[in-house]
Amino acid sequence: MIKSKIQPGSEKAPPKFHITILRDGPYVVYGQPPLNQQFIMPNEDGHSWEFKEGESYKMTEPTTLCRCGESKKKPYCDGAHINAVWNPDLTAPKMPLLDGAQAYEGPTLTLTDNESYCVFARFCDAKGRVWNLVGRSDNETARNLTIREANMCPGGRLSAWDNDTQKPFEPVYDPSLVLVEDPAINSSGGLWVRGGIPIQTENGETYEIRNRTMLCRCGQSTNKPFCDGTHASMKFKDGLPTIKR
Ligand code: SF4
Ligand code: FES
Repeated sequence: MIKSKIQPGSEKAPPKFHITILRDGPYVVYGQPPLNQQFIMPNEDGHSWEFKEGESYKMTEPTTLCRCGESKKKPYCDGAHINAVWNPDLTAPKMPLLDGAQAYEGPTLTLTDNESYCVFARFCDAKGRVWNLVGRSDNETARNLTIREANMCPGGRLSAWDNDTQKPFEPVYDPSLVLVEDPAINSSGGLWVRGGIPIQTENGETYEIRNRTMLCRCGQSTNKPFCDGTHASMKFKDGLPTIKR
């Protein structure tokens, strides 16, 4: 049983679901959550707007998923981490995400922002920058867009909070895993872990439980195990089926 802090607005997944990160190797996933590809799709202005479903991938009990980026059988581990050129060290702090967040207070909403968890998915610019929108959150359109843009942020960097209830808005996710694909920048992205699946190290150290968090699967993040957007600059490719834009 993994004991960890739970981020406000998140719920812990049922106990059968958890992920252990091997020190020099893959993610070991328990509980067989669904694993699907999803493509980041643009709106009419070319900004990230929604996700489109791709292929589904089989899960066994447990399933080992590639973390170094070098497996020839992605998304699964094939042992390539042993000879891969990568630094497997887990450098991300174990502290709650909000401890390192800045708050931007608007008239009806407050936006919290911890930049270390940006995965460069670009939903926060879709129809006005979310940091500007929150300042106009007494306008219904700006308020709804602030909530939408914050909720679409897959890495969990951004959250929108209601000033009256002091509670964050959170999308509802079942425990599930997503292989993110970003065709607009010709890159694959991280492993999106949704619905409060606990994540721990091989030594049993735990990370805060979150409804939305992105694990690195290119092997090059400097904030491991979390994605820091490095995949975008290196044009990480997982070799899985792609779609036309
Ligand atoms: S991860 Fe969040 S903050 Fe970073 S670009 Fe995407 S939506 Fe914006
Ligand atoms: S997958 Fe995003 S930094 Fe590795």
